Amino acid sequence: MTPEHSTALVAAEDETLHPVPDPGIEEHVERYSDVDAAAGNRAYRQVLACFGLVPILAIAFVVIYFAVPARATFHLLGVNWHVHSTLLGLTGGLAVLLIGIGAIHWARQLMNDTEVAEERHAASSDEEQKAGFVQKLNDGIADAGVQRRGLLLASLGGALGIVAVPALVTLADLGPWPVAATRRETIEKTIWADGVRVVNDSNYRPLKASELEIGQLVNAEPESLLKLHGKEYQNAKAKAALIVVRMDPNSIRIPESRKDWHVGGILAYSKICTHVGCPISLWEQQTHHLLCPCHQSTFDLGNSGVVVFGPAARALPQLPLKVDAEGYLVAQSDFTVPVGPSYFERDSRNDFKDGDR
Ligand code: FES
Repeated sequence: MTPEHSTALVAAEDETLHPVPDPGIEEHVERYSDVDAAAGNRAYRQVLACFGLVPILAIAFVVIYFAVPARATFHLLGVNWHVHSTLLGLTGGLAVLLIGIGAIHWARQLMNDTEVAEERHAASSDEEQKAGFVQKLNDGIADAGVQRRGLLLASLGGALGIVAVPALVTLADLGPWPVAATRRETIEKTIWADGVRVVNDSNYRPLKASELEIGQLVNAEPESLLKLHGKEYQNAKAKAALIVVRMDPNSIRIPESRKDWHVGGILAYSKICTHVGCPISLWEQQTHHLLCPCHQSTFDLGNSGVVVFGPAARALPQLPLKVDAEGYLVAQSDFTVPVGPSYFERDSRNDFKDGDR
């Protein structure tokens, strides 16, 4: 092959590999903060100011959280604003915004912005390349001002750390710490009690055992709920919602420990799904199955409400029933196990007695 042929071949190969000419890197333009020490120092102070304001805003957030009345309002632009949440939003949001502005300003004005092009190469590196990488990394850290600008780094760390304090303070809004005693008085207790009548939840008429037919399902609630109002009513109703079903006693399985909980095949269960708490009343009369529309958990009401399908992890709690002197359905007690979704601290050992299952 002649030298002319060889040169032509390389040029042709090069054209195949690089059909678009490499434009190279544009000429580097120095920033003011690079060429003017005063501008550099000004940017440095601006970044510090951004990070330095964050602790002040975080402290203001905490003070406002406790000092400003939750219901105070003010009128502006035709809208009624809640002072508490508006001030919390402003201080908390501004703190996070300043961290972002400070970090971006630091990167744009103070870190090294020299453009570098790196050729693609084999994925694995030899020892020399690894050493070169470590050297470049160290040079980059030095260029970014991480060592030189120690105060910037410390202020950023401090700002990020203190901005977590307002977030922690707001956890107090989640309510009392759920120790066992608190749980017993809140989520593990409903207003069902001995002698409380079961009423239809749409017309509030007490349910008479003799009026229920086999296969019928009624959405119900405790009669005592009607005396409550507002938040107390909502809280009580959410936990005490009930479904009452009548089945042929010969077609269902009633464990020994629950044989006195039904009235001639009339059984009552919590209406709150034990998965994540949807109200349930999709009733399949023939199979005795109750289906939750949210995630399809299916409970067998003819077998103590056990789960036969779906994500729910435990049976529907059953309410022990009896009839009063006038033949109306009443509770024997509260539920014997907590209603609603499970939670980590819940003790499921008492859901069934030994030999029931
Ligand atoms: S809430 Fe009932 S299955 Fe999820």
